[in-house]
Amino acid sequence: TKFEVGYLIGSLASQSINRRLARALVKLAPPELELREIPIRDLPLYSYDYDSDYPEVAKRFKDAIADVDAVLFVTPEYNRSMPGALKNAIDWASRPYGQNAFTRKPSAVIGTSPGLIGTAVGQQHLRSVLGFCNSPQMNAPEAYIQFTPDLISDDGEVSRESTAEFLKTFMAEFRVFIERVLTVLPRQR
Ligand code: FNR
Repeated sequence: TKFEVGYLIGSLASQSINRRLARALVKLAPPELELREIPIRDLPLYSYDYDSDYPEVAKRFKDAIADVDAVLFVTPEYNRSMPGALKNAIDWASRPYGQNAFTRKPSAVIGTSPGLIGTAVGQQHLRSVLGFCNSPQMNAPEAYIQFTPDLISDDGEVSRESTAEFLKTFMAEFRVFIERVLTVLPRQR
């Protein structure tokens, strides 16, 4: 079975190391996973004033979340949390009240930073938010990738074999997790 996976990159930076990580994950994913980016860059800052009339860009974003089988978050840690841009995107997709696009949507979280703990604290914040949004999350493996210069090239080639193997396992496990969740909670199309 094929699964469509939308991935969100928490960084808006042109040289984002998390974008490199995302490119690597696309390459290392099992063939059953069809990955596509769901961009967050052009979303305005959310307010509930928009609830009665979402702007086109936010509708498109929210529909994109609703249309995939699962969501993968590839995000840096900013000040020991997720970047504001990512939180803003999640807020858009979760509203209006009662129309939360994440509910029952399987997800996984991964990220990289030059720091030794490789986004671990930021991921915990994100997991707490996803828990509230009723997204079943893959608990393990966890993936805290310390970025060293040249670990992943611009086009997503991983230079260290053990890291490439680990990322491959992460994506293979995500496939298994998605299949399991969708067996119990089939998507309402
Ligand atoms: C950071 N950085 C950072 N790193 C980390 O490991 N823990 C942290 O809490 C923070 N905090 C933080 C805040 C802000 C505002 C910035 C801009 C950066 C450093 C960060 O890991 C580094 O800039 C990475 O390159 C960010 O990933 P992207 O954006 O390149 O994908």
